[in-house]
Amino acid sequence: MNQPPSLDAPARAQDAVNHDRLQASIAALAAFGGRADGGVSRETLTDIDLASRRHLVDQARALGCEVMIDDCANLFFRRPGRDNALPAVLTGSHGDTQPVGGKLDGAYGVLAGLETIAALNDAGIETLRPIEVVAWTNEEGSRFGPGAMGSSAFVDPSRLPGYLGSTDKDGVRFGDALQTALAQAPGLPRCAMQRPLSACVELHIEQGPVLERAGIPLGVVTGIQAVRWFTVSCHGVMAHAGTTPMDERRDAMAAAMPLAQKLYDYAASQSATQLRLTLGRWQVTPNSVNTIPGRVDFTVDMRCLDDGVLDGFEAFLHAQVAASQGAVTIERFFQRAPTHFPRPMLDLIQEAAGRASARAGLPAPLALTSGAFHDAMYLADHCPTAMIFVPSEKGISHNAAEATAPRDLFLGAQALAYTVTALANR
Ligand code: GLV
Ligand code: MN
Ligand code: MN
Repeated sequence: MNQPPSLDAPARAQDAVNHDRLQASIAALAAFGGRADGGVSRETLTDIDLASRRHLVDQARALGCEVMIDDCANLFFRRPGRDNALPAVLTGSHGDTQPVGGKLDGAYGVLAGLETIAALNDAGIETLRPIEVVAWTNEEGSRFGPGAMGSSAFVDPSRLPGYLGSTDKDGVRFGDALQTALAQAPGLPRCAMQRPLSACVELHIEQGPVLERAGIPLGVVTGIQAVRWFTVSCHGVMAHAGTTPMDERRDAMAAAMPLAQKLYDYAASQSATQLRLTLGRWQVTPNSVNTIPGRVDFTVDMRCLDDGVLDGFEAFLHAQVAASQGAVTIERFFQRAPTHFPRPMLDLIQEAAGRASARAGLPAPLALTSGAFHDAMYLADHCPTAMIFVPSEKGISHNAAEATAPRDLFLGAQALAYTVTALANR
């Protein structure tokens, strides 16, 4: 007998999502690296990140999941389906944070994935395909560049060797931190990278102001803007600050500052394209009050929906380097073209999010693009992929004050549960 649509498995999974359980699990994970200002400091593969992973493993096992780890220490929590030979549906996000981050960036997607599994358990639903929740390694890229290492290596394992030599500010190699993480996961079966997956859906906070300004609780993410990262190095000669005449100095900072200003001016001249520029990390050598800087390195993060705009900006940057006659060098260490998620995935998320919003008496979901990059950007190269957004209060993220109303976090998890269940029965 045909069941009415309201009683089908995606709807029943959506209705079984538990608001208070989700809030409790967000608070429990936020205790790992929790700060007095309400933020979280849990950079990838630090001791606190490794402790938080053990917590996630315990949570997943309590829900009846099998736990697996791959060569990049990505953690997978698997709920079997009826036919476990079929490729799984993947959801989740990352557990690492910026040096000073919030409770939600990444963590929300992982925990809402586990809440989906809890909801399926409560509703007694067995899906056709297995469902896996992932916690990707090093999405943030703040400790070891580039970002989204775990998901990019999963999709193309030939990238992993190139990541191993990446060092953090204390000189620790990513490869060594990774070995420590893998050694601390004894007994976890090693699973293959690049495994076939039937689909991937990532739930995340928006990290920008669009949904809040529109007064809409759920977003259907149509794609992700292009991004490029560079290190710019300005070369000078260290010398005494008090004795060296101004016209005899080769001061790396005196080269870096006008170059930085030119980049800001260029970005301002392109404001109609929504080009975004951030010079976020500066290293001054030797960083001493009374030594002329011998070297200044700074990072450039440029983003735009239109990759052609980034081509133009990169050409401008190269022209400045050429004009410096060796005083400035650059290295690009990350580049992604824009991501476009496939229409059938967007239609399913529209249905899932539309149902959750309508039942809460709230406006229909809004289609928007993502300003931040996400692990879903790489998964989109591997299987049909899409994302769901919930609003960020005041658009703030990468900040301890990052927040989302509990009601919206609940609705996002409801949209996720419906989407994942529908995909797992296809
Ligand atoms: C991810 O955190 C990004 O920088 O977009
Ligand atoms: Mn994130
Ligand atoms: Mn982030």
